[in-house]
Amino acid sequence: MQDKLQKLQSKIAQAKLGGGEKRIAKQHAKGKLTARERIELLMDEGSFEEIGMLVTHRSKDFGMENQKFLGDGVVTGYGTINGRLVYVFSQDFTVFGGSLSETHAEKICKIMDLAMQNGAPLIGMNDSGGARIQEGVNSLGGYADIFLRNTLSSGVIPQLSAIMGPCAGGAVYSPAITDFILMVENSSYMYVTGPNVVKTVTHETVTHDELGGANTHATKSGVTHFACANEVVCINTVKQLLSYMPQNCEEDAPIYPYEVQKDETRPQLTDLLPESPNQPYDMREVIEGVVDGDSFLEVHKGYAENMVVGFARIAGRSIGVVANQPAYLAGVLDINSSKKGARFVRFCDAFNIPLLVLVDVPGFLPGTDQEWNAIITNGAKLLYAFSEATVPKVTVITRKAYGGAYDVMNSKHIGADLNYAWPSAEIAVMGASGAAEIIFRHEIAQAENPAAKLQEKVDDYTAKFANPYRAADRGFVDEVIHPQDTRIKLIKGFKMLENKVLKLPKKKHGNMPL
Ligand code: HXC
Repeated sequence: MQDKLQKLQSKIAQAKLGGGEKRIAKQHAKGKLTARERIELLMDEGSFEEIGMLVTHRSKDFGMENQKFLGDGVVTGYGTINGRLVYVFSQDFTVFGGSLSETHAEKICKIMDLAMQNGAPLIGMNDSGGARIQEGVNSLGGYADIFLRNTLSSGVIPQLSAIMGPCAGGAVYSPAITDFILMVENSSYMYVTGPNVVKTVTHETVTHDELGGANTHATKSGVTHFACANEVVCINTVKQLLSYMPQNCEEDAPIYPYEVQKDETRPQLTDLLPESPNQPYDMREVIEGVVDGDSFLEVHKGYAENMVVGFARIAGRSIGVVANQPAYLAGVLDINSSKKGARFVRFCDAFNIPLLVLVDVPGFLPGTDQEWNAIITNGAKLLYAFSEATVPKVTVITRKAYGGAYDVMNSKHIGADLNYAWPSAEIAVMGASGAAEIIFRHEIAQAENPAAKLQEKVDDYTAKFANPYRAADRGFVDEVIHPQDTRIKLIKGFKMLENKVLKLPKKKHGNMPL
C-alpha cells in the first residue's frame, strides 16, 4: 500500500506544479498569480475540493502525446466563500498557455453542470491563450459546450468571470454571457481579434491594452463591470459581489444583521440639492445617505457615468440601486446608460434583489449620433427591463423627471410599488422654457415684449408643473416626503414589500428590444 500511496502523492505533487517551476516563475515575473494561488485567495481556507486533478488531454498530433500535464491547464472544483458553496474553474497559464483543449473544456463543463444541479454560483478565472491550437475543431467544440451551459445557467445561478490574463477570440463569449466581468489592470485583455489582425484589416496601430485592456473595457466598451488594480483586489471584489446575491434564482440574498435605529433620519439630505435646478450634485451622496453605511458597491463605475448602478443594503437586505447622475451630462438618458441600467435591472430581477430607483433626469439625449445609433431601441431596453421586473420596486424622484424618461425610470405606470418624490421634484412633459416656447409660440411672437412674455409663460408653467403635486394628486406619486425621511421610508417600504408575489403572463420568453 505504501508504494501505491507514494505514487498517488507523487501524482498530486506533479499536478500541483502545473507546467513546472520555470513557467510558474515566468508567471510570477509578470506579476500574475498561478491558478491555484488564485483559488486559495478566493476560497475559505481549506474548503477547496478539486475535481479532475489527474485529467490529461487526448491529442496525438504534433507530438502532443509526449507532452502531458496533469489537470490539462485548468483547476476545477468547489468550496466555500464566507461559508457559502461555490463552484470554480481557474485556468492555468503555465500549461500550454491555459489554452482550451477538449478535455480542459470537459472539466469546466463538469463543474458547470454541478453548479446548475446544486444551485450555487459559478466563478471562472480566465487566463488563457484561447483554443488549443493543436486540437483544432475539438477545442472549438469545447468552447461551444461551455457557451451553451453559460446560456442555460443564465438567470438560474450567478456566473462571475474574472479575467486575469489573455482572453481572446471566441473565448471572450463565455465571460460575455456571464453576469459580471472583472478585469485586472495591466495584465488582462479581452478582444475578438488582436492588434496584429486589426493592423492588417483596418490599418490601425493599437496596443493590447489600448484595444482590450481593463480600462478600455471599463470606460469605452462597458464589456467589463470592474477594472481592478491587481489580482487581490479582483478576487476580493468577487467575494464582495457574491455577498449581495442569492445562491440561485429560487433563493433570496443573505440578510445581514441590522437593528433599525430609533432615529433613521438623515438631515444631510435636506440641503443636498443646489438652489438652482440646473446645478449638478452627486447622486452618490443620496445613495450613501439612504443605504446602510458602507454597503454600496458601485458596478460599471467608469462607463456611462450619467447612470449610477450598484448593490447596497437597506436594513441588512440586498437591493439594487439604479440612479440618474446629475453630476454627469445632467443625468440624461442615452444609449449607453440605458443599456447599463437595463442589464443591471435584469440581473436584480432574475435573482430576487429588490430595486431602488433614484430619479433626476432631464430626458433622453437629443442628436443624430443617438438617433442613428438607435436610442429608440436601446432606451426601450431600460423601459422593458423595468416593466418586466417583478421584484419589489421603489422609486424616489429627487428633482427632474421629464418626458419619456419619467415613464421609463420605474414610474408607477410600469409597475413600481412605491413612488416617492421630494418637494423639489419637477414632473412634466418637458422643461418649462421649452414647453412655454412651444405652446405659447404665437402669443409670445405677437407680444409687445416677447422676452417678458416668454418669462411670464415660463413662470406660469413652472408654477403649474415644476413640482410633484400634480403627480401626487393623480396617485402617480404615493407620497411627497421630506428628504431626511427617505431612508426610513425605504426601510419600511422594502420591509412591507418583502413577500411580494407578481407573476408575468405565461409565455416562452419575451422579445426584448435587443
Ligand atoms: C496551444 C498555446 C496557445 C494556444 C499559448 N500557448 N497559446 N498552446 N494553444 N492557443 C503556449 C505557448 O506555445 C507557450 O508554450 C505557452 O503557451 C506560453 O505562451 P507564450 O507565447 O510564451 O506566452 P506570452 O508571451 O505571454 O503570450 C501569450 C499569448 C500568446 C499572447 C496568449 O501565447 C499567443 O498569442 N498565443 C496564441 C493565441 C491564439 O492565437 N489563440 C487562438 C485564438 S482563436 P511553452 O511550451 O513555450 O510554454 C481562439 C478561437 C476560440 O481562441 C473560438 C471559440 C469559439
